[in-house]
Order: sequence, then structure tokens, then C-alpha cells
Amino acid sequence: MSTTTDNWAQVEETAQKSLGKDITGFIEKCRGEDAAHSRLIAVLHEVQAKYGYLDGEHLDAVAQLMQIPSAKVSGVASFYHFFRLKPRGRYMINVCMGTACYVKGADRVAQKLIDELGITWGETSADGVFTLEGSRCLGTCGLAPVVMIDDQVHGNVTPDQIPLLLDEYLEKAQQEEK
Ligand code: FES
Repeated sequence: MSTTTDNWAQVEETAQKSLGKDITGFIEKCRGEDAAHSRLIAVLHEVQAKYGYLDGEHLDAVAQLMQIPSAKVSGVASFYHFFRLKPRGRYMINVCMGTACYVKGADRVAQKLIDELGITWGETSADGVFTLEGSRCLGTCGLAPVVMIDDQVHGNVTPDQIPLLLDEYLEKAQQEEK
């Protein structure tokens, strides 16, 4: 008959397989702190920083190791917009929807991206190259409307420029694959 300790060793082993030693080590540290449950968001950030998103396996492993109900962990992950529950594309497109960009036509730029990519906010294109997100002011209002692709700022963007811009990045992605 297995003991609680045996079960725990198994939990740790399974969690380590899906999260890696660094994350399980971080969780271990958090577990030793007062109000360990309040560290859940920090733990989820660590997992996302490592894997780019949080899948069901990650969330289960975190729940088990932190001894927090799975429903609560999934609830926290889906409540906060900064947590991603699906893999992101090679390039992250961030359309600024802040006031300055909006009055300069950010909505038309966004619509063109949606049409060209065939996806909507938070989704990734079928080829896995682009993920589309909207954001608040990116701090470069003088260049409105602004689209950021990864860390590259594109200013004064018009809907007409979108196909060419996407082609540029598609080509880059193809070069990287070679
Ligand atoms: S509102 Fe878009 S950069 Fe400030």
C-alpha cells in the first residue's frame, strides 16, 4: 500500500516532467513562505515566461504542487488577460488601441489585420506565424497609429501597408526556418 509520502514523491516527479526543475524549485520555495497561495500569480508568470503559455498540464501540475484546487488555478489563469492559454505565434502583433492611435484610425488598421490573418484578438494564425493582440498606449503616441511586432515599433501605419508588413515578417519567418 502506498503512503502519503510515496504519493507526494509521485506528484513531484510528474510535476517536474511538465514544469521542469527550475519551476518546481521555485514553487518549492514559495510553498515555504507565509501565504504561499498568494504566490500563485508569480508561479504562473514563471511558467508562462518559460513556455510562452499555460496549458492544462502546466496548470494541473501547479495546482498539485501548490495544493490549490485545479479550478482555482484555471480560474486565475483565465481571469487575467496577461496569461496566455494557447501557444503564441512566432511573431506577436500588438495593435495600440489607445486614444491617440484610435483617433488616427487604429480600428481600421486592426480590422485589416483581422481580415488578412483570418483571426481575431488573442488568436494565432493557422500557420503559427502571427498572434494578434490589442494593447493600451504603447508610449509612442507621436507615431500614431502604432503597431508593434515583437519589439519592433511600426508607426503611422495605414491599412494599405498591412499586407506588405505581414509579407515582410512571413519572409523573415521562412528565412529562419532554413
Ligand atoms: S495611444 Fe497608441 S502609442 Fe499612445
